[in-house]
Amino acid sequence: MAVLLGVLLSLALAFLPGALLPSALRAPPQAPPITVRVLMPSPFVDATAPLVAAFNHEHRDLRIEVARGPLDTEAMSDLAIGSLLLGSTPYDLLLMDVSWTARYVAAGWLTPLEDLLGDDALDAMVPGARLGNGFGGHLWRMPLTGDTGLLYWRTDLMDQPPRTTEELERIARRLQQEGKVRWGYVWQGRQYEGLSCVMLEAIHAFGGRWWQPGEGRAGGHTELDGAGAVRAAAWLDSLVRTGVSPAAVANFAENEALQLFAAGDAAFLRNWPYAWREIEKGGGPVVGKVGVSPVISAPGERSGGTLGTWGLSLLKGSAHPQQAAEVIRWFTGPETQKALVLDQGYAPTWAALYDDPDLQRRHPLLDVQRQALEQGPLVRPLTPLYAQLSDLLQRQVNGMLTDPRPAATAMATAQGQSEVLLASAAGEAP
Ligand code: GLC
Repeated sequence: MAVLLGVLLSLALAFLPGALLPSALRAPPQAPPITVRVLMPSPFVDATAPLVAAFNHEHRDLRIEVARGPLDTEAMSDLAIGSLLLGSTPYDLLLMDVSWTARYVAAGWLTPLEDLLGDDALDAMVPGARLGNGFGGHLWRMPLTGDTGLLYWRTDLMDQPPRTTEELERIARRLQQEGKVRWGYVWQGRQYEGLSCVMLEAIHAFGGRWWQPGEGRAGGHTELDGAGAVRAAAWLDSLVRTGVSPAAVANFAENEALQLFAAGDAAFLRNWPYAWREIEKGGGPVVGKVGVSPVISAPGERSGGTLGTWGLSLLKGSAHPQQAAEVIRWFTGPETQKALVLDQGYAPTWAALYDDPDLQRRHPLLDVQRQALEQGPLVRPLTPLYAQLSDLLQRQVNGMLTDPRPAATAMATAQGQSEVLLASAAGEAP
């Protein structure tokens, strides 16, 4: 009887106009959801689209709206800065390249995260992934990926990857002479940020360094005319001159190098972790024949390559910092990362994911990625002037490849120009 009454009552309520309902039975008016706006480079927009759609489906009070930025890190940063300079950016969150942090912090564009996410926010991450997120004692960025430069090689053409630059060159040349591959080694030589990442690894492979941290406004000085840096530039140049690398590397960004390797035309490729999934998905002739190892980035050793992580930062002026922090937690959290590892091949940042049996089984690159992150990946100069320094280096190295000039001249010029830049920023006469 009670059940029957209940059914009759709910039927009656369903047909009663809302206004006639007793107020206690009326559903409370729904507050509109708060929207957190995130600006990201286009590949990340595509990679995260299904996850964001699922998030929006599950949350009634919070929506994520993703804005599509360009592909390259420089174009992406230019877009973000353009909007930040206007004073009131429409975005709450920005997916930032690790190389931007110091500049954005110095310009006062970010809100520190430790109060929102806790002082221990990075503690459970692999050591390499914790680098480049803090600056001046604050946490500015939560990494979504733990990428480092990696060396891709052909398992059908060699038993193991080389340990030294000489060995790499020797194997490449032999395979070319035997007609097994057209090209030995492909990398990013275009005048853009990717070339700075390649150069950083090469400089360390020859025992040099780009940046020596120190005091002062610029936070250090450059050592581009040092013996290691000059030998690194001379090595890249000789790869092109002797035909181990095609002259076209001077126009190669990540994708051009990847496509050539994926087509079976090169013995070695330098790229980021996502390249492996990309090659596998492509279904080309090298599928199942690709080995991956840390790059050669120390004399006689494969080691951590350039650190290339992307992470979320909270922009100053966001009207919803608490909700934005919730979105950061979700985006960078282990569950989202796991999905991105499986789908995109990104390297995770959380230490526990490297021991996840499911990931271990389904993502063969996991151990190499952990190794690269644990072996002290190379951090690009941590200075607000990084973008300009990088531009000076890229110009000289790319110029050396396209318009022949001795490596020593190119590097002396890059060093001289860097010194002028650093001195003028510090307010000193060069
Ligand atoms: C990748 C890296 C990034 C780097 C860029 C260079 O996106 O993650 O750190 O600056 O490549 O092209």
